[in-house]
Amino acid sequence: MSLESKHLLGLYGTSREDIELILDTARTFREVLERPIKKVPTLQGKTVVNLFFEASTRTRISFELAQKRLSADTINFTTSTSSTKKGETFKDTVRNIEAMKVDMIVVRHESAGVPQFLTRISNANIINAGDGTHEHPTQALLDMYSIKEKLNKLEGLKVCVVGDIAHSRVALSNIYGLTTMGAKVSVCGPSTMIPHSLIKLGVKIYNDIDKAIQENDVLNVLRIQLERKAGDRIPSLREYRNYFGITTERLNKFNKEIIILHPGPINRGIEISSEVADGPYQVILDQVTNGVAVRMAVLYLLGTKN
Ligand code: CP
Repeated sequence: MSLESKHLLGLYGTSREDIELILDTARTFREVLERPIKKVPTLQGKTVVNLFFEASTRTRISFELAQKRLSADTINFTTSTSSTKKGETFKDTVRNIEAMKVDMIVVRHESAGVPQFLTRISNANIINAGDGTHEHPTQALLDMYSIKEKLNKLEGLKVCVVGDIAHSRVALSNIYGLTTMGAKVSVCGPSTMIPHSLIKLGVKIYNDIDKAIQENDVLNVLRIQLERKAGDRIPSLREYRNYFGITTERLNKFNKEIIILHPGPINRGIEISSEVADGPYQVILDQVTNGVAVRMAVLYLLGTKN
């Protein structure tokens, strides 16, 4: 079994068979992560470069760890210590790195479309680790893995993505991936943060968080992205917390089991209270652990594709 594409640029157009293959392969690697020696020789001899032009904790470390667990050679590129500071272009930077015989490139960039552009100037397998407000496919895959781990299915589940949808690549990848897998996806937030074009994708829109909690099996709570000027779309953070923040008081109004995801980093006390972020319904650190297994699966399936 192999993936249809030699790249993972997004979940838009990624088939159900490919998503299932990645999630099933990740389950095998999740078991490897529980062994005393958490390493397999699968990508021995392959070289992967992590090109991060934007800040990251989880995704960058998770990809690097996944590459090491698969025995690949790993190189980390960060803009602050690179020759881009001396004026070298993005294209020249990539061409020079590839001239050192790199097999795979993992890229995060503040501009949407950079992973797609890389496929035109490079022969390596390209993996999107988050491009602007466009897509973050491995985050959505690990979110789906974590939901399935808890509820044993995706088909028919009601999943609501809450918060700053307009600025969120996580939201878009979740909407594409979960819809493909047969889940019923909705979004909830202030109308200034929800693009109404989502209705065309069959996504239900809530402006009332209590109703969203009442009607859904899973909430995927997003960060208010202040660095993308999300603050301009709401009167104040306090108001956002009062109307949309996920708190214990709010969850306790409804006597139901609900799974709470958050991709991180968390703004504690804004989109989610500390009590919920550390409480019994959340799977936030499971998502981080599962992320390594999911990224191992993606690297393995692309790196061994003929
Ligand atoms: N979830 C996520 O992408 O986190 P980082 O920005 O820390 O990688």
